[in-house]
Amino acid sequence: MRKHIVAGNWKLNNNLNQTETLISELKQQTKTSDAEVMIAPTFVNLWHAFQATKQDDIEVISQNMHFAENGAYTGEISADMLKSIGIQTVILGHSERRAYFNETDESLAKKVDAALVNNMRVIFCFGEELADRKAGKEASVVESQIKNALFHLEPSAFKHIVLAYEPVWAIGTGETASPEQAQDMHAFIRKTLATKYGNAIADDMTILYGGSVKPGNAKEIFSKPDVDGGLIGGAALKAEDFYAIVNAF
Ligand code: PGA
Repeated sequence: MRKHIVAGNWKLNNNLNQTETLISELKQQTKTSDAEVMIAPTFVNLWHAFQATKQDDIEVISQNMHFAENGAYTGEISADMLKSIGIQTVILGHSERRAYFNETDESLAKKVDAALVNNMRVIFCFGEELADRKAGKEASVVESQIKNALFHLEPSAFKHIVLAYEPVWAIGTGETASPEQAQDMHAFIRKTLATKYGNAIADDMTILYGGSVKPGNAKEIFSKPDVDGGLIGGAALKAEDFYAIVNAF
């Protein structure tokens, strides 16, 4: 079912004390919208964050995971490990993972499979770079990222997938896609899904926008019919700003 979701990606921010502080500040905020609220602290603080928010309307999710169940992959974390501490949702394919950690469509397809086998929900990220947009190739780049990582899946798998369109040129840059640019791409993503899987799956898909979403622009972006929520970086690190975005619906 299509939902409103606002997910905060904390990236490489917040040690344990800072995680405790931000969570207690988040708990003091009031939610006035129907959006599902998620936060993605770093791996080492997931267990603590999960325990600290158990009674609250906040889901703690992971920023990443490995595709292997276990084995000789030093420094990695598996779906099973995440599940064993209560984590049910994982962000995969964030552009920073693709750019700095060499994640490819192929490795992401394996990660998506591993998450689904473990009954996890996936927030799958993709988006074009500035050069792609300047060359007018944004739609074909996005289409191939989606096809390469997801189009081997059975239709039923899409119940467990949320898509996050994040134009790389808008992430952490202060530059936001205009609400119209976001809407156009989200409509194109839905059309791409519909072509392969039919209208019902495409209409049901929750598609988030990410890239410099702030309290000041969230309402306008979220007002677009194909934008179902946001994946928030910088503004997720301040409780008040984050909830202003959550309440923008
Ligand atoms: P930003 O990050 O909101 O800081 O641009 C978005 C993201 O990377 O998900």
